[in-house]
Amino acid sequence: MMEETDWEQCYIDGDTPWDQGSPSPVLVHYLDAQMLTGNVIAPGCGSGHDVAEIARRSDTVSVLGMDISSTAVSLANSRLAAFENATCEHGDLFDPGSHHAGQYDWVWEHTCFCAIDPTRRSNYVDAVHRLLKPDGKLLAVFYLEPKQREDGVAGPPFGCSIDELDALFEGRFMIEESRVPEVAYPGREGRELLRVLRRR
Ligand SMILES: C[S@@+](CC[C@H](N)C(=O)[O-])C[C@H]1O[C@@H](n2cnc3c(N)ncnc32)[C@H](O)[C@@H]1O
Repeated sequence: MMEETDWEQCYIDGDTPWDQGSPSPVLVHYLDAQMLTGNVIAPGCGSGHDVAEIARRSDTVSVLGMDISSTAVSLANSRLAAFENATCEHGDLFDPGSHHAGQYDWVWEHTCFCAIDPTRRSNYVDAVHRLLKPDGKLLAVFYLEPKQREDGVAGPPFGCSIDELDALFEGRFMIEESRVPEVAYPGREGRELLRVLRRR
């Protein structure tokens, strides 16, 4: 295993270069075409921009952000105070508590998969599978080719290939959509993959 990132310390130090101060453009574009309904969970939601965006679009959706950093959770809950259909809780995607099992129609993935140690990727697939209802969907923006870190450390973020994603999710999920998104944060153009994966 590599040295674990101390996510809480990153938030305390304000060392959060991943936080673009706005929701994922891919999410915004997706929601322009299709509403999410039902229960949505966003693991590794950070300061909650995406959770707020999902909640803002519809009151037929209930969104839960989850993050392992309590400072991130506080930031997210400040942002979400205006929404009755969204909140954020402190939790570990890999051990969220049995009351979350099979509860969600959608999992929103954005920069959580690329943040975790690559040796835990099959645990990530298990965790997302456990959260979803049968036929629930993982709506994911996978950061395939992150920019090199300025400090020269390998990651996070950790890249991945489409072949690796295919192998990881095969058998547990059906691919419903897969494409390079039309929009991106500046600097991430062509580096991401949008996938909608239906839980078997
Ligand atoms: C690269 S940041 C991305 C945050 C947010 N998605 C964004 O784009 O601003 C990764 C996030 O995942 C959280 N995280 C890391 N491991 C986690 C775990 N096991 N369970 C829940 N959250 C986790 C970190 O605290 C951090 O907020």
